[in-house]
Amino acid sequence: MNVYDAGRMADVMAVHGYAQTDCADEAEITVLNTCHIREKASEKLFSDLGRLRRSSRRRARNEGENAPIVVVAGCVAQAEGAEIMRRAPWVDIVVGPQTYHRLPELVRRARTGERGLLDIEFPLESKFDRLPEEGASQGPAAFLTIQEGCDKFCSFCVVPYTRGGEHSRPVAAVVAEAGRLIEWGAREITLLGQNVNAYHGEAPRGGAEWGLGRLIRALADLPGLARIRYTTSHPRDMDEDLIAAHGEVPALMPYLHLPVQSGSDRVLAAMGRRHTAGEYVDLVGRLRAARPGLALSSDFIVGHPGEEEADFEATMALVRTVGFAQAYSFKYSPRPGTPASAAGNQIGEAVKADRLARLQDLLNAQQREFNRRTVGRTVPVLFDRRGRRPHQLAGRTPAMQAVHTTCEDPESLMGEIRDVIVTEAHANSLAGELADARSPFAGASRNPETGRAIA
Ligand code: 5AD
Ligand code: SF4
Repeated sequence: MNVYDAGRMADVMAVHGYAQTDCADEAEITVLNTCHIREKASEKLFSDLGRLRRSSRRRARNEGENAPIVVVAGCVAQAEGAEIMRRAPWVDIVVGPQTYHRLPELVRRARTGERGLLDIEFPLESKFDRLPEEGASQGPAAFLTIQEGCDKFCSFCVVPYTRGGEHSRPVAAVVAEAGRLIEWGAREITLLGQNVNAYHGEAPRGGAEWGLGRLIRALADLPGLARIRYTTSHPRDMDEDLIAAHGEVPALMPYLHLPVQSGSDRVLAAMGRRHTAGEYVDLVGRLRAARPGLALSSDFIVGHPGEEEADFEATMALVRTVGFAQAYSFKYSPRPGTPASAAGNQIGEAVKADRLARLQDLLNAQQREFNRRTVGRTVPVLFDRRGRRPHQLAGRTPAMQAVHTTCEDPESLMGEIRDVIVTEAHANSLAGELADARSPFAGASRNPETGRAIA
């Protein structure tokens, strides 16, 4: 979501004649777009700010330039705006995720010498109505925010405080933006939201609001769109229509990020997740019945206040039962203003670290096994990036695995979906060869042992 927001901020500034640069030392404006979800992410802001200040002083000294305008955006700005101004008073602008459409005006004021500009409102108007049309910058695999904020108030989570209450964009706005993304070359769209399957958008011609399943069916009809994904979802908001869509809509990719956080009913209750481990396993069963082979991903937190060894073992058992293609796992970190941060039964750092290591060992083994099972198969890959080496290009399988391959002219395959025969599995990616017999591999050199083409 932050990647998407950063892109939208670039779009807003582009209207006013600004362009992005890859070289931070060249920038007239530096925007640090921040995340507040875990402690590490927000502490990083202050170390980044320190580094930025040193480099802008150096620039002013060496080149006699004006110091660049420094903007802190995103959820740390939202939650800790006053603290940022206190700890780093030389920051020019602090802007929250709900008001970055006002960034050009804030920059204009900073340019006239105003200092300490703070805009962390939750305005009534939707920022999406104020943003320019989506920029062409996204490429073949694009993001589209359809929903923001969350009303779930899980015990550990700052999102309802930093991003505010649940808000869904109208269906017509989403379909129009999807159409533009496709025109600009998107073949895949990932629908984004903090709690995306709580989506309930205003219907295009009045009547009952649409849920996510219905929206996905409508987007699947857009010519040119080959793949649809959504993230991130809550188990409680998987309704029957959305589950059925996984079986009925071929463009909806057979991969789902469905955070469970814990496998212990006691901890799930303390987290306020409103479902049990058994209900999650049952839901996974229904999803896999609808779409056999569905690859699952999840988020886990270890060391939530009150988590005992038996609770952690229940999480390990759930992981073994479900089998994940990949996952994200974190040590619990107390976030300001959340109920869990005030709980008395906090877990020690060493215990958290030990549990995280054990959980990650298991999840990594499952990911390796999932990738290994793909070797020898032919999978459709959407190519969306050049690789680091010459002639290398990279893309994703339907199950989100990164795939690298080589060909004579990578540029010609950008945005194309091609069959790839997977030849190797690594921990985080696959390698393969284009299956197309007419592939430009003819004449390429081959590894004498494996017979595989090499760049
Ligand atoms: N501590 C650790 N992890 C957290 N997450 C959210 N809040 C916290 C926290 N306080 C994790 C959850 C969520 C993911 C985006 O970040 O697993 O699903
Ligand atoms: Fe945070 Fe997700 Fe819970 Fe909402 S559902 S409070 S975003 S963890």
